[in-house]
Amino acid sequence: MRRCLLTLALIAVSCASPAPSRVLSAAAVAAPDEFAAQTAAEILRAGGNAVDAAVAMQFSLAVTFPEAGNIGGGGFMLLWMDGQLHFLDYRETAPGKAHRDMYLDANGNVIPKKSLIGHLAAGVPGTVRGMWEAHRRFGRLPWDRVLEPSIRLAEDGFTVPDGLAKAVAAAKFDGTNFAEYFGTMQAGQRFRQPELAQTLRRIAAEGAKGFYEGRTAELIVQEMRRGGGLISADDLRSYQAKWREPVVIKWRGYTVAAAPPPSSGGVALAQLLKMKSALDAAFRGAAHNSWKYMHLIAEMEKRVFADRAHYLGDPDFVRVPVGWLTSDEYCRRRAEEVSVESISKSEEIRPGKESEQTTHFSVVDRWGNAVSNTTTLNTGFGCGVVVRGAGFLLNNEMDDFSAKPGVPNVFGVVGAEANAIHPGKRMLSSMTPAMVLRDGRLELVVGTPGGPTIFTSVFQVIVNVFDFGMDVESAVAAERFHHQLLPKDEIRIEKVSGETEVHLREMGYRLVARGKIGDVQAVRVLGSMPQPASDPRGRGMAVVIR
Ligand code: DON
Repeated sequence: MRRCLLTLALIAVSCASPAPSRVLSAAAVAAPDEFAAQTAAEILRAGGNAVDAAVAMQFSLAVTFPEAGNIGGGGFMLLWMDGQLHFLDYRETAPGKAHRDMYLDANGNVIPKKSLIGHLAAGVPGTVRGMWEAHRRFGRLPWDRVLEPSIRLAEDGFTVPDGLAKAVAAAKFDGTNFAEYFGTMQAGQRFRQPELAQTLRRIAAEGAKGFYEGRTAELIVQEMRRGGGLISADDLRSYQAKWREPVVIKWRGYTVAAAPPPSSGGVALAQLLKMKSALDAAFRGAAHNSWKYMHLIAEMEKRVFADRAHYLGDPDFVRVPVGWLTSDEYCRRRAEEVSVESISKSEEIRPGKESEQTTHFSVVDRWGNAVSNTTTLNTGFGCGVVVRGAGFLLNNEMDDFSAKPGVPNVFGVVGAEANAIHPGKRMLSSMTPAMVLRDGRLELVVGTPGGPTIFTSVFQVIVNVFDFGMDVESAVAAERFHHQLLPKDEIRIEKVSGETEVHLREMGYRLVARGKIGDVQAVRVLGSMPQPASDPRGRGMAVVIR
């Protein structure tokens, strides 16, 4: 675990940016590792904006945070640029040859691990196209300059952090080439990735084409042939990142923005915040993480997960009633079902009429622009397959589809028709890059990994800051909990007081201690001062760049 706050020297930025909504006295970043934080600092000091820093961090994390940082995966980016919100979806898609029953045996049962390990688990990667699109539209520095730090880290190597060495040692990917590429990694030793450096050089020279066409694409297709995977040259060439409207709600005088479908995150966050407001009277006097507080939130979360399983999916394939699901009226009605005293039966919660390895960074530049970016290979190190010759890991995001209605995925969440596999379709996500604004000014940039605990964690951090008045570091560090409808009446906890535990058990809850929940990276903006906070649960770093 590593956590520190560095203040770097003021470096004057010579090339002026277009006048933004507010000029801050510093830039700030909260990143999941020190290399990404230093990458962002370098790019911001060189005159880059929040998008340049974000793109540079994404590529650096592909080198130094192989559990989740990637060019073989996907993600979501929420942007606040020159006073406007934008959202970029660079989620993976199902390959053209995918079909809805591809993970079922002849009897229609889900084949364990088939959507998690090996070539068939990989969706068409979206990251490079996403970064290219974000940079093309908003970047200030040249594209190849933004890739410099990652190329350096891959070519010269970086000193392997303890946490990464441990994660590699614990990873089990029988039948893949994972160990061949990462097996030699040792804590405290320099680790070089020459093939990955070459791939990054092609991307630096040719842009998105350096990945989706030419040599890199050829290597991906060859890897698919070797391992019986489905991703084709056509799938790569036709992959599109998509600009979408973020989910935006009004909450207690604030504007909260977060990821829209194909993530369930924004809808879920909106429902949680609005249900909490609707239950104001019930929450009165409920101390932070007291039994009453946890029970009420668990009840809200159950309803969110019921809606998620039923309604949420790729909006290009299914109609997702976002407006209705996040409306005041609907959230109030759902909140009215909650009893303060007792647990409602999980079986009766119907949709109203759905390892810690993803990663997030939050960055704010001195012009007041911001990026909240969550990116993933799905579970740690994705499907464990490295594209031979290109040196990067592929995702296992296909597991986020519902392989069969009602059968839980690796995170224990279920889905149905809306999230069935279809060629070209994006699998449902929980990733929730989010921002809170007030009167057109940035207040908070936040996000985290954690599968379905993502939006419940983002929710808790927002509530900690704005309802409990915690400073951002305390809000991020505070113990979290999570309930997701299934398993029935189970609340996953980090730590709660003895009294809270006794009371919740008496009510009928099962409390399960299941390690750390999330790795939140947040930046709070107070007046003209950005304050970053990197979760003490992870190996991240918060930096203020004056
Ligand atoms: O998109 C999603 O919701 C998942 N693939 C995220 C996975 C994740 O956060 C893993 N880390 N705990």
